[in-house]
Amino acid sequence: MNQLGLDLGSSVIKAVEVQREKSNTSLLKIAKADTTGINILSSSEADIKKAITFVTDFVMQNQLLGKYVTVSIPQALIFTKILSFPDLKGKDLEKAIEFEMVQESPIPLEDASKNYQILPSNAGKSDSTEVLVVIAPNMLTKKILNIVKSSGLQIQAIEPTSTANIRAIMDEERENPTTIIADIGEKNTDILIYSDFALRFTRSVSTGFESVVKAAAQDLNLEKVQAAEYVKSYGLLSDKLNGKIKDAVSPIMGVILNEIKRSITFYESRNSSNLVKRVVFCGGGSLIPGLVVYSANYLNTEVQIANPWNRLTSLGKYADRQKELEDIGPLFTTAVGLGLKPAS
Ligand SMILES: Nc1ncnc2c1ncn2[C@@H]1O[C@H](COP(=O)(O)OP(=O)(O)OP(=O)(O)O)[C@@H](O)[C@H]1O
Ligand SMILES: [Mg+2]
Repeated sequence: MNQLGLDLGSSVIKAVEVQREKSNTSLLKIAKADTTGINILSSSEADIKKAITFVTDFVMQNQLLGKYVTVSIPQALIFTKILSFPDLKGKDLEKAIEFEMVQESPIPLEDASKNYQILPSNAGKSDSTEVLVVIAPNMLTKKILNIVKSSGLQIQAIEPTSTANIRAIMDEERENPTTIIADIGEKNTDILIYSDFALRFTRSVSTGFESVVKAAAQDLNLEKVQAAEYVKSYGLLSDKLNGKIKDAVSPIMGVILNEIKRSITFYESRNSSNLVKRVVFCGGGSLIPGLVVYSANYLNTEVQIANPWNRLTSLGKYADRQKELEDIGPLFTTAVGLGLKPAS
């Protein structure tokens, strides 16, 4: 069976098609396109039309018409919380969850789809039941589904980018060291902690690659396009251009890395026997040269860049382009996760 993952990012649309046969998964197709000038989230009729035309062209150009698709919903735009319930079970637990969802939801629940999942027990917090609550505004879900359906695709599922990123990065069958995943996108950085087979923490910050480029443009008096090229080429490398780009972008990288640090501190203060062992970066912003060394020093933790292709059994016709795929892996992490969603 073929499955398509479609990641509608705010700057790049990414698609990954995967063929599944029993436990084998092989890569059929990857595609991406720059969404400059398109606003998937706008409510204006003209913008919606433009977005539909854009995605339709993408579908046609890449021969994706009629495919079954799992599409992303941005983590930063939904409400995710992990609630803790000491000593509650069965019906009492269900009642408490329903009650807490109403209390916690930032939007009226009649305007949202809500979901909860009782998490497997957490070694760091064995005295209580942890529950993952996800609340997505109907307006947002409807907008995304409308664009995707109108573009000639068949909807299989819609899924938060966080869930897809976990599937693309973690080997969910095995015990993993407690991991922070940080998705540095165009507009946002989504931080999550995965431990004991479940998502245990999320936080989104509105600082992403766009802010990094802005800082470089301002500091060095460059046009944005030129600044973006410099950041992509020299990033955080101190031996390039006398470290000028590094100096310009360090403060903004510091904002992102400080949020990661704060997330680690917060989590560890509540899970003292379950410390964070590594940070895995994904998203286009993680392609900034020098990020691994810079952030490993800053955070004093092991740092890796995501390679989502590891989750596939075969790279199919892309097998002889392994290095090239690895280089762009971080951009496609969410799309790979979406493409690998098990059929329900
Ligand atoms: N070497 C690189 N190759 C391609 N893109 C890069 C590279 N380095 C940085 N980027 C930038 O990363 C950004 C895209 O990242 P990504 O695709 O993860 O964002 P997005 O998913 O569209 O955004 P968001 O998740 O905020 O909605 C682009 O602005 C792109 O220019
Ligand atoms: Mg993204």
